[in-house]
Amino acid sequence: MEKTLSIIKPDGVSRGLIGEVIKRLEKNDITITGMKMLHMTRTQAEGFYAVHKERPFFKSLTDFMISGPIVVMVLEGENVIARYRKLMGATNYKEAEEGTIRRDFATDIEKNVVHGSDSPESAAFEISYFFNSFEIVN
Ligand code: RTP
Ligand code: MG
Repeated sequence: MEKTLSIIKPDGVSRGLIGEVIKRLEKNDITITGMKMLHMTRTQAEGFYAVHKERPFFKSLTDFMISGPIVVMVLEGENVIARYRKLMGATNYKEAEEGTIRRDFATDIEKNVVHGSDSPESAAFEISYFFNSFEIVN
């Protein structure tokens, strides 16, 4: 079974979309095997998004990600990395398919409600960034 990391970003939490996101996971046969709420420090957000540190949007992205609490989840299922990214929709909500989380709820290319790992390597890094083995059920 594949694993991936999901984040409900500060805009999703503050707008009351935690239940909506979780409902879509459950409806689509994606199992949650780890879950917690936390408020990242700047150092934690910069470490999480280290792959983007040369991008022009890095400062704005990390400012946004520490602007409020987030919900981090470990998701499990067959082909879950790709299946969850399909449920999220494209980074730019204007290009996201109908019925995706970002198309339905994002307000901005940055404030796009959710995050999902993009490869098995990034999933392994991102899950271990937030969870130890005792915090993931199986
Ligand atoms: P994510 O990592 O959050 O799941 O999103 P993603 O793979 O679809 O997008 P990625 O290219 O990894 O970008 C990470 C996050 O940075 C913000 N972003 N802003 N202003 C911009 O042009 C821009 N581009 C990306 C978004 O919050 C994006 O999800
Ligand atoms: Mg990404």
